[in-house]
Amino acid sequence: MRRISALAATVAVTFSLAGCGDLGGLDLSRVGEEGKTTWVKLALNQTETHPSYIALDHLSERFEERTDGRWKIDVYPNEQLGSQQEVLQFVKSGAIEMAIVSGTQLENLNKDFQVLNMPTTFSSVEHQMEVIRDPEIVGDIFSSLEDSDNISVIGGFTQGGRNIYTSFGIVEEPADLAGKKIRVQESYMHIRMIQLMGGSATPLSYGEVYTAIQSGVLDGAENNEVSYSTQRHMEVAPYYSYTNHLIGLDYMIMRYDLRQAMSEEDRAIFDEEWNNAMIEHTELWDQETQKAIEDAKAAGAEFAEVDREAFVEALAPIKDEFLTTDYQRKLFDAIRAADKSDEGGAK
Ligand code: GCU
Repeated sequence: MRRISALAATVAVTFSLAGCGDLGGLDLSRVGEEGKTTWVKLALNQTETHPSYIALDHLSERFEERTDGRWKIDVYPNEQLGSQQEVLQFVKSGAIEMAIVSGTQLENLNKDFQVLNMPTTFSSVEHQMEVIRDPEIVGDIFSSLEDSDNISVIGGFTQGGRNIYTSFGIVEEPADLAGKKIRVQESYMHIRMIQLMGGSATPLSYGEVYTAIQSGVLDGAENNEVSYSTQRHMEVAPYYSYTNHLIGLDYMIMRYDLRQAMSEEDRAIFDEEWNNAMIEHTELWDQETQKAIEDAKAAGAEFAEVDREAFVEALAPIKDEFLTTDYQRKLFDAIRAADKSDEGGAK
């Protein structure tokens, strides 16, 4: 059920190339036409109970309604169309039209996205959501993949605070991770992040994590509570430690040629409803996080506050290692300057 990916992807690509049916093959000169429905495939790697699915499902309903059925977005959850690494390539090639991908995936197309995936960049979800709505800060980077990869970055959903969880016990401080294999997303920077935090990093796609921990290939992973619970990772890694090392970010990406082919009116409706989806997602986030904690506890998980300062200190070198160009430093400074909290933000 989880993944019909390889097959689905082949079918999607084949249909797309053949230009037939609902599975793909959009005729860009006719999208959004009166009296006809343009079907758009949107890939997601989360379950149907995850806030991202809920917000996207509502977006789909509203967009269809406001365009009198001229547009229909089909949201495919659970990695049905492939892992994020795969669907990124499918959006690029035009086999599918939209996807939600983690920032770590975009890093592999443009290293500057590392700035937004780095521990210390964002101080809070509010700070993050404000930054990604500010074209002066993110306008250039969000359009940076349009000519090279046919990908427009439309906006984002927060991943909230990410924390370490393991099969062996609470991780109080970096020394507790010595020799332990922790799953990371497919990102060089996140491999380094776990090394600095004291562990040994293994990049793996999201859908493979449960089995890898269950079989003992991995000792743990890092993610927010919502993923921890909706992916049932607490069943194999019941110790959740609040390292809070990163406020992660997912992006909505769309084929650039499709975005250009949309009428101005439809694009404006889409953008308005996408903005509403971001608002709904942010509102749902806290509530769903609380629910995820309760569900995980009921399944036997333990949540613990740990020596967060020790992890902040361990991660301090990451900034100099990964902010290597003037543009990256400027982007980082602009993001930090937009932080209005009086906590002083990330170190
Ligand atoms: C979060 C995020 C996903 C990402 C996942 C991961 O759940 O929302 O986009 O794929 O983390 O760790 O791979």
